[in-house]
Amino acid sequence: MKREIIITNDGSASIHLPEWNESYHSKHGAIQEAKHVFIKNGLDLFQNEEAIAIMEIGLGTGLNAFITLLEANKRQQHIHYTGIEAYPVSLDEIEQLNYAMQLEEPEMQHLFLKMHQSQWEKPFIASDYFSITKRKQFFEEITLENQFDLIYFDAFGFRVQPELWSEIIFKKMFAALKNKGILVTYACRTSIKNAMKDSGFEVEKLPGAPGKREMLRGKKNIL
Ligand SMILES: C[S@@+](CC[C@H](N)C(=O)[O-])C[C@H]1O[C@@H](n2cnc3c(N)ncnc32)[C@H](O)[C@@H]1O
Repeated sequence: MKREIIITNDGSASIHLPEWNESYHSKHGAIQEAKHVFIKNGLDLFQNEEAIAIMEIGLGTGLNAFITLLEANKRQQHIHYTGIEAYPVSLDEIEQLNYAMQLEEPEMQHLFLKMHQSQWEKPFIASDYFSITKRKQFFEEITLENQFDLIYFDAFGFRVQPELWSEIIFKKMFAALKNKGILVTYACRTSIKNAMKDSGFEVEKLPGAPGKREMLRGKKNIL
């Protein structure tokens, strides 16, 4: 499918799919959305943990992984990151993304590129605090259990891939989380909330990233 690099309203880049009229991030601001949904309402809940494991559903441009890497270094918190992606973005496209500059960490650009150049299915140790395993896999094939503290659920929208916002997938997410684990997503549609609830999550609605009204957070809370 055709992909175009675009600049979102906060100045950070994203990728747009013209055939679907869908983007990898919010057009209101890719970095702004990543920080609000995944860092503020996800990672920040684990400030007191020395080490955590995160899985991202849809590694895409690697923006969420990169921001998490910067946070891990800043917080001196050990983060083991697993990024699932079936359709990797090409290195040529990755080189056009301005995240290191926009995040005012230009010297980290080389690490952003290295992360993308690293081998699939093998852990890449990016820093003293951050390692990432990229898995080239369909979400539908995930069978991991009790492994993650936090899931960044960042699939394309319900409008274009409704099958990924279903009970079948959320049950896999629930199984992949450790007890007390958290799933965060930018979406807030009622049918998604219900699919999460039916999969076992305790679900709450939170204020969305700028330009979006609400988002969802689910907790695995088994006795
Ligand atoms: C919204 S984008 C992810 C954006 C990403 N988190 C980022 O920061 O750039 C959704 C991603 O899911 C991937 N994808 C779509 N369907 C998939 C599937 N069934 N299995 C695995 N990956 C899939 C796409 O290739 C795309 O990279």
